[in-house]
Amino acid sequence: VGQHLYHFDQVESTQEVVHQMAKQGKPHGTVVIADEQVKGKGRMARNWDSPKGKGIWMSILLRPNLPPFQAPQLTLLAATALAKMMDAHGGITPQIKWPNDILVNHKKVSGILTEMQAEQDKIQYVVLGMGINVNQGIEDIPFDLHHKASSLKIESGQDWNIHETVQQILRLFESTYDQYVDLGFKEVKRQWEHYGYRIGEEVTISTMKRTWKATLVGIEPDGALRAKDQGGHEEKLYSAEIHWG
Ligand code: BTN
Repeated sequence: VGQHLYHFDQVESTQEVVHQMAKQGKPHGTVVIADEQVKGKGRMARNWDSPKGKGIWMSILLRPNLPPFQAPQLTLLAATALAKMMDAHGGITPQIKWPNDILVNHKKVSGILTEMQAEQDKIQYVVLGMGINVNQGIEDIPFDLHHKASSLKIESGQDWNIHETVQQILRLFESTYDQYVDLGFKEVKRQWEHYGYRIGEEVTISTMKRTWKATLVGIEPDGALRAKDQGGHEEKLYSAEIHWG
């Protein structure tokens, strides 16, 4: 991973660049990174603010030998690698909020967007996008997001070296990917749950249909969140909002 690394000053979205490269046949592990994105994409068709030089805006091309239903494992793996990077830096405590936001002090500092191209029962490729708010100051975060978004600099009180941080993410992503290939999902699950936000705690869950109190149990091989309601009944969630308390 990162043997082929392309760096751009400005792109619309590193996701789109990697999709094009995938179609041109670029290999597994190709990485695209940009100083600035003018049309950064978040999950659920949201925008992802990607100001110049303030963060890590990066997409990785993967060509895994996996059935499509296991693609969410790659997102969980990437979140684990990012949490390890932040943990290794010291002074901050990262947590992964299911499915894949990285929080520090309950505020989001990073998000992951996974896009898959599959045909029948085979993944053709996956574009794994990581956005990390690194050196934004509080003045760079829109006021209406102050309660829920932050940066590594704000939470740690220091400037971060973006180049070194990218290298460290790529190393940790690769070692976590190797562990996944050797030991399977259970190792990723163990590490993810170590950082898992509110795992083992009582939360309030809401879906389109209802809102209820439950204890978060852990994650499943298909990326689902397992939760246990107050009657002891467990269920798998594929899409839900988790609130604490
Ligand atoms: C989220 O909504 O939490 C996911 C955000 C993902 C943002 C990253 S930045 C690099 C890559 N390119 C994009 O346009 N989006 C992802």
